[in-house]
Amino acid sequence: MNPRLSLPLDIPRSELLTRAAKVIAEAWQSFDQARAVEPDISQALRLMAADGLRAEPMPALQALEQAKSYLDTSLAQARPRYFAFVGSSGLEVGVLADALASTFDVNLATTARSADLIEAQALRFAAELIGYPFAAGAFTSGGMVSNLTALTAAREFALPNSRQTGLNGRSAALYCSSEAHYSVRRAAEVLGIGADFVRGIAINAEHQMDVAALEQAIQADKAAGITPVAIVATAGTTLTGAIDPILALAHIAKQYSVWLHVDGAYGLPGAAAPSTRHRFAGLEHADSISIDAHKWLYLPKACSVVLVKDPHALSRAFSHNESYMLHDQDQPLNPVDSTLEYSRPFRALKLWMALRVHGADQFRAAIERNIAQARLCANLVKAAPDLELLLEPQLSTVPYRHVPKHLESNEAALNEHNLELVKKMQIDGRVYISSAVVDGKTCLRPCFVNFRTSEDDVRVLIEVTKELAQLRTVK
Ligand SMILES: Cc1ncc(COP(=O)(O)O)c(C=O)c1O
Repeated sequence: MNPRLSLPLDIPRSELLTRAAKVIAEAWQSFDQARAVEPDISQALRLMAADGLRAEPMPALQALEQAKSYLDTSLAQARPRYFAFVGSSGLEVGVLADALASTFDVNLATTARSADLIEAQALRFAAELIGYPFAAGAFTSGGMVSNLTALTAAREFALPNSRQTGLNGRSAALYCSSEAHYSVRRAAEVLGIGADFVRGIAINAEHQMDVAALEQAIQADKAAGITPVAIVATAGTTLTGAIDPILALAHIAKQYSVWLHVDGAYGLPGAAAPSTRHRFAGLEHADSISIDAHKWLYLPKACSVVLVKDPHALSRAFSHNESYMLHDQDQPLNPVDSTLEYSRPFRALKLWMALRVHGADQFRAAIERNIAQARLCANLVKAAPDLELLLEPQLSTVPYRHVPKHLESNEAALNEHNLELVKKMQIDGRVYISSAVVDGKTCLRPCFVNFRTSEDDVRVLIEVTKELAQLRTVK
């Protein structure tokens, strides 16, 4: 116990740290293999969670054990058979970097000296990994905030000084595919553009934005006096992993002088993989890009990167001079002058450490492995007579559904059947999967973005699908 501290620990720090390290090591070991079932939440845990705030301290080791119990009965994306949504997977060095960053509790609102160097280097690493020639950037809390950050810069580009005046009676619009992530719509809401002015452009059979439809929408808006603010290309949609034709969109962006943002929150790591790099042709023309390191770069949440081509684009949108955050000769801009957030954790450290420890090649290989798993999954689906692949994977997402003979021509019943199937699989617990709706068809939508997932896990996913699809639903 250190008597100088107002919040003392009841045991020596080293003892707590040793125990915490053991908990983490055990968790990592348990993630090496999938577990047979998800354990139930005990009545004791439920009761404890109903407790009010206690005035008296609890022994630190006891609190640690409790935290462990709650975590152990939580859905962990880190486990190898977690296939739902677009997960993160808690890469070990990222976990340690988080602990280090929190320990020093560096704040990147203003200069943090050496940490600034690492943040700048980690931005360069991210840009190099995907091959994007950037000039400025920032670490943010996720794809939502990265997209908002980039689109704030785009609004200032399209409507200079609108950060001061607001839209001031003018109308503005954003263009994205009809299957772009909701964050684009939310950005429009927050930026005063309005969700009604998000043009959800039609998609082709591969679920990619239709370029001719985009051009028509821009022309129609311009004719109506509406200012196009940005084209948002999605490089890996959340729903199917579809990649919009970035090069063709870049030509339109150039022709109409409209900002091009590439939302690569999920899919942009695919630009680092030799087998899918070609799908991102034209990326270098984007005015801004976003990529979530807490998705397909395997890091624990929250860690996203937004990069821009124009070195002043972010500061034009965000810089300000306040009496508590001064500019001077040595510090002409603070980090808060290029980002939305004020107090900001040292998120860059985990990407920096991960890329240092593993090197670019291991990352490329891990991403390739996930792409191969998606192809394997698609092939297993195609080989099963009563499974239907809804779309060939462009990256690592494989929407498929179960089509039993007796329901073959009844779409409504098929949708219900597949929704039930996903519920059964979630209750069963051997794999964790989510449902989605693709082209009006309810389906299973595994996404392979975990460095712990193996080919075996993919085979188990399909086996469990087949097995549970045969079971009658118990309501
Ligand atoms: C394409 C895309 N953009 C943006 C987001 C939002 O990212 P976040 O949840 O990190 O804010 C997601 C999330 O899945 C996404 O898939």
